[in-house]
Amino acid sequence: MHRILFVCLGNICRSPTAEGIARAKVLARGIEGQVTVDSCGTGAWHVGEPPDQRAVKQALLCGYDISGLRARKFEAADFHRFDFIVAMDDDNFEVLNIHKAEQGTSALLVRCLDFHPTESGSVPDPYYGGLAGFEHMIDLLESAIDGLLDHLPAHH
Ligand code: 4NP
Repeated sequence: MHRILFVCLGNICRSPTAEGIARAKVLARGIEGQVTVDSCGTGAWHVGEPPDQRAVKQALLCGYDISGLRARKFEAADFHRFDFIVAMDDDNFEVLNIHKAEQGTSALLVRCLDFHPTESGSVPDPYYGGLAGFEHMIDLLESAIDGLLDHLPAHH
């Protein structure tokens, strides 16, 4: 079983959208018995809230229903519950990397765009921008998540 956790700052824009896209792609590939997906944030401001309405709307336009997700904060136990911890940006990566050193975990900490064919670094935070930022975010996530799922070692 591959256990994947997407992490951003608030868990209301980037990582819940990534979770929704990954769930859909896992189903489309017929590998739902081999992969679990979750998301969370490094910050606690939005714990318990649904994703940002703009993220819900743009995701739905692209065929992903993320309206039922609720934000939670990353916790140390996540290093042991997940094999792939996928940070949305360099800040999330650095925060998690500091905790990882204390945790003695074998979980792999990566950046989401490490799996994108042409982009790298951070998925821009769309929170303070307009709808175009959410569209761009979905484009980036779709390509990166295809790359991530391609990268998972096959289990037989
Ligand atoms: P996310 O976006 O990390 O992609 O969920 C943000 C959501 C909320 C805040 C920052 C980023 N905030 O500062 O409240």
